[in-house]
Amino acid sequence: MSELVTIILAAGKGTRMKSSHPKVLHQVCGKAMVRHVLDAAEAAGSKRNIIVVGFGADEVRAELGNAAEVVVQAEQLGTGHAVLQAEPLLRDARGTVMVLCGDTPLLTGALVKRLYEEHEKAGAKATVLTAVMPDATGYGRVIRTAAGDVEKIVEHKDATEEERAVQEVNSGIYCFEKEALFSALKNVGCDNAQGEYYLPDVLSILRERGEKIWAVAADDYEETLGVNSRLHLAQAEKILRRRKNIELMKSGVTLMDPDSTFVDSNVIVGRDTVIYPFTWLEGKTVVGEGCTLGPSSRFTDAKIGNSVTAHFVYAHECEIESGATMGPYVHIRPDSHISNNVKIGNFVEVKNSKIGAGSKLPHLQYIGDCDMGAGVNMGCGTITVNYDGKQKFRTKIGDNAFVGCNSNLVAPVAVGDGAYVAAGSTITKDVPPEELAVARARQKNIPNWPDKRK
Ligand code: UD1
Ligand code: CA
Repeated sequence: MSELVTIILAAGKGTRMKSSHPKVLHQVCGKAMVRHVLDAAEAAGSKRNIIVVGFGADEVRAELGNAAEVVVQAEQLGTGHAVLQAEPLLRDARGTVMVLCGDTPLLTGALVKRLYEEHEKAGAKATVLTAVMPDATGYGRVIRTAAGDVEKIVEHKDATEEERAVQEVNSGIYCFEKEALFSALKNVGCDNAQGEYYLPDVLSILRERGEKIWAVAADDYEETLGVNSRLHLAQAEKILRRRKNIELMKSGVTLMDPDSTFVDSNVIVGRDTVIYPFTWLEGKTVVGEGCTLGPSSRFTDAKIGNSVTAHFVYAHECEIESGATMGPYVHIRPDSHISNNVKIGNFVEVKNSKIGAGSKLPHLQYIGDCDMGAGVNMGCGTITVNYDGKQKFRTKIGDNAFVGCNSNLVAPVAVGDGAYVAAGSTITKDVPPEELAVARARQKNIPNWPDKRK
């Protein structure tokens, strides 16, 4: 087999999406559609991937970074014209060129690989991946001869009533022999309902030249669904989320209600973790084993250890080590590091802080820009006063310190190891280790005050 090269078409505006952003950047299961397609190509063994961009080219480039080569189709004159733009990059390439569309996010590496292998085995000049759709509206129809060979592909808008009744569609995914592809593309015209240069016309051109063209049918039409509208986007989202949930359950994760559990494609979850309903695991989140997450929790780009319990928690861009318990109603903000066995209780916010092992934040804390040691006990209502209206400052709390209820620690300030802060204090000066700080007015009791008041 030759080295596989893939062209992914992603220049279209996606008019039917009614969006200011390129269609292929809309996300499905937390990942841009074009990324899903690129991942499928790579999983199928494609070594060189070229993405044709056009509408919103800079946005697509920014999403892809160095993940693929990019070529610009300045004017979107059709899928055939789009493929031609990649020709200069393929001067030295030989063998098979695969063409994928950036708007088919449900495609799997296994299906792409099967298409490639069957194409090579057939020794065809072109092989198209087809699917039988329950509703073929909008797709190009695969028209076969009486003998069952592919004769041509007719776009929905150009099709006769009889052709529209055909349920076998063009998935928009193909393998070509490189020389045959580009030589046929030069003969593709634009005399059709959309005035575009159609890539599928290459098939009939090659057939007329007496070349072998071939078709591979997908077993599961869902894999080839193209997203052209917000409705399709929601349908794709549902299918991909279901697929991800099944994969998780097969690997030993309990989902109390898969229909109300939302896990992005790239998220990893360890076995024996139990996920309660209305829980979102997003982005680069990684969850360890034996955790209990949810109900009603959201984790975005969070690294979570083993045996973590979290209910009614929103945690993003942070790390939570093993054995931590959190919730209900907890917000862990970016750059926070929650160490082993920390207990975070009701109505607590932590931001850009390190909380040492076994420390307790049981109720009503705001901890921002703080370096907290291990074994610290924070009383109810304790606050790090980290902002003076202009600048942020850090608070340091030593190991085993005890901060009494309703205290303010006005940063920059440090509370030493084993130090105590009396309840209701506003601490503005460092507290040395093992000392007690009291920073509140002394209580005075006035006898017989109600009588005097009269
Ligand atoms: C296309 C196929 C149709 C097939 C369907 C499968 C053609 C003419 N039709 O139709 O047979 O059933 O896909 O989903 O190929 N694009 C460009 N440049 C362009 C035009 C399109 O890069 O000038 C890209 C789009 O960004 C998109 C892909 O090509 O990723 C397909 O384009 P789209 O307009 O969605 O084609 P369909 O009408 O769905
Ligand atoms: Ca499409």
